[in-house]
Amino acid sequence: MRRRVTKAVFPVAGLGTRFLPATKSIPKEILTLVDRPLIQYAIDEARAAGITEFIFVTSRGKSALEDYFDHAPELEAKLRRSNKTELLEVLRGTNMESGAIAYLRQHQPLGLGHAVWCARRLIGAEPFAVILPDDVIAGDVPCLKQMVDAHSETGGNMVAAMEVPADKVSAYGVLDVAEDMGMLARVRGMVEKPKPEEAPSRLAVIGRYILTPSVLKNLGKKRAGAGGEIQLTDAIADDIAQGHDVFGFRFRGQRFDCGSKAGFLQATLAFGLARNDLHDDLIEFIEDVVAARRAAQ
Ligand code: UTP
Repeated sequence: MRRRVTKAVFPVAGLGTRFLPATKSIPKEILTLVDRPLIQYAIDEARAAGITEFIFVTSRGKSALEDYFDHAPELEAKLRRSNKTELLEVLRGTNMESGAIAYLRQHQPLGLGHAVWCARRLIGAEPFAVILPDDVIAGDVPCLKQMVDAHSETGGNMVAAMEVPADKVSAYGVLDVAEDMGMLARVRGMVEKPKPEEAPSRLAVIGRYILTPSVLKNLGKKRAGAGGEIQLTDAIADDIAQGHDVFGFRFRGQRFDCGSKAGFLQATLAFGLARNDLHDDLIEFIEDVVAARRAAQ
């Protein structure tokens, strides 16, 4: 029987320069989509996929993230006294079981691959998930749950993938597909941030992975790749060369790049519109803005 995936790594040690000055003192993952920080969406997705051990790779200046997962007894007592039961439930949803969450430091921002490698001792010899909280994915079935279900059939490595326009491929890791099976694509190679003319496809890697421990060994070789960073994509590609399976998984759902300002604003609108308590006010506002723009043209 295949081993269940119960550990997830959350690499959150990046500098978040695209959100400066906000990220000068606030970790990017604490930035708020409607009323929940990005990291809460990632944790909820992981829980829905059966993850029970949460490994955060953090860096200097990220203590707000650690505080976020602390219990808040005074706040809970106040909400209980004032009978705010709904809010109390929301607050309790952020609590983590003691011992379920671990924090590690990446001392230098040497790249995503290096951040994942920092978690090697806590992962050990089992398959593990990686979630990048700035990729927020809306869907009926959470993306990682879809992947864990598919992975129970395939084993090997699996990366979330989606088709992107040709002029956008250089922002992603891109898959070289050996066999396209629809939802799954068997991969024979991966290229990090290729030039459009050199991209092997338009199937790009999105921030959800299920990886085998051999990828950690490859990361241990610490080879700097695109942008001088230690790239996770390179270590997964090395695993293919070593005879292991890698699958691209076309997930069902809408992905928002909340690491970029435009993506974050789009996600704010989409998640706001999906909320009954905000939908009508938001729609009215959007219609006014569009009407004013049309009138001005
Ligand atoms: P990004 O490429 O989005 O970089 O990292 P960033 O530093 O977070 O943001 P910008 O580009 O400066 O605005 C993708 C993911 O990899 C993590 C980030 O925290 C993010 O989740 N990462 C990146 C690390 O944990 N360590 C690194 O050295 C680099």
